[in-house]
Amino acid sequence: MSKSYYVTTPIYYVNDKPHIGHAYTTLACDALARFKRLDGFDVMFLTGTDEHGQKVEAAAQNAGITPQAFTDTVSQNFRDLTKSMNFSNDQFIRTTEPRHYAASQKIWNRLLERGHITLGAYEGWYSVRDEAFYTETELVDGKAPTGAPVEWVAEPSYFFNLSQWQDKLLDFYDANPAFVAPETRFNEIKSFVKGGLKDLSISRTTFAWGVPVPEDADHVMYVWLDALTNYLTAIGWSEDGEGDFSTRWPADLHMVGKDILRFHAVYWPAFLMAADLPLPKRVFAHGWWTNEGQKISKSLGNVIDPLSLVEEFGLDQTRYFLMREVPFGRDGDFSKSAMIQRVNSDLANDLGNLSQRTLSLIVKNLDGAVPAIASKLPEADKVMLDAVDGLLDRVRKLFEEQAFHEALRIIWEQISNANKYIDSQAPWALKKTNPERMAEVLGLLAECIRQFAILLQPFMPEATAKLLDQLNVSSSDRGFDKIAGLARLTSGTVIEKPSGVFPRYFEDTAR
Ligand code: MSP
Repeated sequence: MSKSYYVTTPIYYVNDKPHIGHAYTTLACDALARFKRLDGFDVMFLTGTDEHGQKVEAAAQNAGITPQAFTDTVSQNFRDLTKSMNFSNDQFIRTTEPRHYAASQKIWNRLLERGHITLGAYEGWYSVRDEAFYTETELVDGKAPTGAPVEWVAEPSYFFNLSQWQDKLLDFYDANPAFVAPETRFNEIKSFVKGGLKDLSISRTTFAWGVPVPEDADHVMYVWLDALTNYLTAIGWSEDGEGDFSTRWPADLHMVGKDILRFHAVYWPAFLMAADLPLPKRVFAHGWWTNEGQKISKSLGNVIDPLSLVEEFGLDQTRYFLMREVPFGRDGDFSKSAMIQRVNSDLANDLGNLSQRTLSLIVKNLDGAVPAIASKLPEADKVMLDAVDGLLDRVRKLFEEQAFHEALRIIWEQISNANKYIDSQAPWALKKTNPERMAEVLGLLAECIRQFAILLQPFMPEATAKLLDQLNVSSSDRGFDKIAGLARLTSGTVIEKPSGVFPRYFEDTAR
């Protein structure tokens, strides 16, 4: 049986429409999920929407409709985004589903039965925008450290005994040095926990849009306890026989943005330990995008709509840019000029021209019959083929570290090499002088392009499918068990006149 791999995105608040930040988190998980499937894993890739809480209740009130009607509409926008971005999620969870109420109440009851929940009263600061509690000392100029406004809250509340978990969390971090990445973020989490933990308020009474606390109808569960539990709901934890829980849990990776790392790397493991459940294997915190150097915000009016990027530059071009431009884990800036550069230089020139030139020559000079790779290659050819055969192992290791940008960089190193090779060998000139050598060169190039296309499928599923169709590679021969020297392009395959896969972007001056 193939090994299971469970990867999750955060579930998105439905107070607003999806923007580039949301698309980015899910895209990274999509690339990872696709990679693992091609590498023979049985993947479960989860995304969805986080539909409770004060923020959503307020947004519904503003819109003049019930929270349920409001969340139905906005959640659909996120579901539509998964289609438009070609995300391959296996499930889309909504926290308003009955199965999720059952799972949230189940975890509550487990915490209660084990003595980790007590009734008290909360008095302190709360930020609705962050859905988070803050202490007086954390405030900066009367605002949350994130810049969000805070309000004073005083109400009865159930508490989770978070303060009791400090040492156990620190021991767990020590024993699992890869639990949080990047490392600088892990260090921030450790110092936060070392600084001491306060018991956490986990219920609210001043609004109603949430999962009811079992046996106390005055309270709804704190939205983060409900939201984090989605990772268990989706694999059937609340169901009879526990669904896929025993084979899927613990999750292999929770992908999150840096702003919500504390919830995933401190509160979530504490809840799970207290509920006697295994802890996820890893949490990766990626950075934030700015727009032409500016923080993205609704008030500045510079929110980037992922769909308008897709419309202007193309789907796979957008996917490629987002994964390539910024070292994954760091903050990054979106700029139109950088986007155009990537589309025209990396895609249209490097990969696009390489394959267009190679395949056209095979059609023109060899009647479309792809030549076999010679059993004994000249030394320079062998070096190039070995380097391409060696990519999978290196890329696999980089995917384990979520270094997606680096994986693309090393693939492009080989694409550049292949471009240098075609220029120096000039197969177009060999037809008359040395047709055998021409066939050898084109055969080697076609094999390299096949491997590039197979390796790049997680990032650019549509464009690579076109390339592989052009090379006549059948859909059952596109997995990672067919590259790295384990198989070769079948010689004698007849290909047809190719058409360009990566068009150049021309600035529309009338725009
Ligand atoms: N609902 C919570 C998550 C609960 S998970 C159990 C939430 N939702 S969110 O919609 O506000 O944010 C979801 C993700 O979008 C976060 O990972 C956040 O980091 C990411 N981004 C929001 N703006 C972003 C950028 N400008 N750039 C990159 N990612 C950003 O938090």
